[in-house]
Amino acid sequence: MREAMDSGRGDGVKGEWSNLIQVFTCPEDEATRAVLVHHMRQILFELHDFLIQNVGITEAVSLKKISDRCTDTVLNREPEKRLADVITDVFQEIAPHAVNVASPYFVGHMTAAIPYFMVHLKAIVAALNQNVVKLETSKLLSVLEKQVMAKVHRLIYGNDEAFYREHVQNTHTSLGSFTEGGTTANLTALWVARNKALGPCGTFKGVESEGLAAAYAAHGIDRCVVLVSRRCHYSLRKCGGILGIGNANIISVPVDGTNHMRVDCLAEMIDGFKKEGRVKVMAVVAVVGTTETGNVDRLDEIGAICRQEGIFLHADAAWGGPTLMSETYAPLLDGIDGADSVAMDGHKQFYMPMSCGMIFFKDPTSLDAVAYNANYIIRKGSVDLGSKTLAGSREANCLILDSAFKIMGSRGYGMLIDHGIELARDFAEEIQGRDLFQLVTAPELNILTYRICPRAMREELATASPERILALNDHLNEVNRTLQQEQREAGNSFVSRTVLELETVFPGSPTGKVVVLRSVLMNPLTTLDILRDILDEQEALYADWCEGAIPKKGRCRVGKG
Ligand SMILES: Cc1ncc(COP(=O)(O)O)c(C=O)c1O
Repeated sequence: MREAMDSGRGDGVKGEWSNLIQVFTCPEDEATRAVLVHHMRQILFELHDFLIQNVGITEAVSLKKISDRCTDTVLNREPEKRLADVITDVFQEIAPHAVNVASPYFVGHMTAAIPYFMVHLKAIVAALNQNVVKLETSKLLSVLEKQVMAKVHRLIYGNDEAFYREHVQNTHTSLGSFTEGGTTANLTALWVARNKALGPCGTFKGVESEGLAAAYAAHGIDRCVVLVSRRCHYSLRKCGGILGIGNANIISVPVDGTNHMRVDCLAEMIDGFKKEGRVKVMAVVAVVGTTETGNVDRLDEIGAICRQEGIFLHADAAWGGPTLMSETYAPLLDGIDGADSVAMDGHKQFYMPMSCGMIFFKDPTSLDAVAYNANYIIRKGSVDLGSKTLAGSREANCLILDSAFKIMGSRGYGMLIDHGIELARDFAEEIQGRDLFQLVTAPELNILTYRICPRAMREELATASPERILALNDHLNEVNRTLQQEQREAGNSFVSRTVLELETVFPGSPTGKVVVLRSVLMNPLTTLDILRDILDEQEALYADWCEGAIPKKGRCRVGKG
């Protein structure tokens, strides 16, 4: 475009203007169109091959090196490049330095391959550029959103036909809404929970209107707490900060040896707060697929306690929610219909592109607790979805999910879920069959953790003194940390790493702060053979480490004794 503007094809400012408005209509010439078609064909029809050929997994590249490429802070006044050149640069200079999260060897995070048609749908969403904050900028897309919400709500809560007929397009009620992700879905749930817990009483108009200080005074309390699993996602602590109750009041309930919230402890803690007085338990959060270990809290038992105590129960199913579509494993989520709200991520196991989350409420009037209206949009009683969402302007993610349901059906999604869970079980067996590795958390869904811990060391750990256990664990933590990094930097595969605080479950079980390798098995192209390759690579790296080919950081020594 710059050339066009500089060459004065038009006359002066008038010419520049006509060139500028060209970008709102179509490519400026045939050559530009040809370049765009060439590149876009690659990502629309040959995405898998394009990513394999052009985008690395996680090779070593210093942050400094990539940061140094992006230090220009001056916004250019004049166009710098032609559109075709900019797009070519994106494909040649930027994409290769992104991460190929779609690789079947990339098994470390909850971001992975997506069906190629998702890219088409995302492009259509961008092209239509609807804003579902209000009907006037989205029309059919707003009502489509309500329909998609109802479909997933039905999957969770399974109410009868009459219920869904009444609410699917009801302008006064809401079964849920799309959010940016799991974090804002959790925040929306706790926002509702806070406003319900600290609602109007007497002359007090409610916390949303008058703030926390007035709310605590009106309700005769000093603080609100939220009880969460110790394995919950860190976003819940953010919610404590944002909602003003303080993140110190997001209180962890201990977990058992299989990473499930201890229901006995939950009951005791609720009891303790009741006795203490002047503390309101605003909500309990159960996790459906813990981020680090993929475990599902016992929703039935937790739900029973919450119902008995009149406490709002939120289920953070950002990861595990889609398991409901598995015809085999859905029962793992029994009791989810007892939750007052359920968060799910579209960009996790609904295999949607970034970014999309969802929040659902059992009671279709729950979102009234956070409703806002304005005169020019989101008028009372309108379909304007923005009246009950944290976000204002929003893209029409419903188009993507609705189309994906049509293309794959819940059975297709269920098969993807089954593949992940069954592959995780096979992988766990493979790990247990090898001398070098110790399975740390067995898979319940499709996430597992393990560590490098040679058999001899495992045997020693079973009978060692507490001091010796500490020293061995310290050493193992260093080995696992170093080798995970080495493997990542080699760039062939990626397994993530976390630190779990574990209690002794049986003699020799990992204890204390344990560095573990974490696998998330959601990519249907990942096979057991690929996972064996990853373990083989780790074995080779360990051999190098023992021979001194990989420098030891020297922080811990494992002498005898
Ligand atoms: C259980 C759980 N909840 C919430 C979140 C936050 O989701 P998001 O990153 O989409 O905000 C995650 C993300 O990993 C998660 O695993």
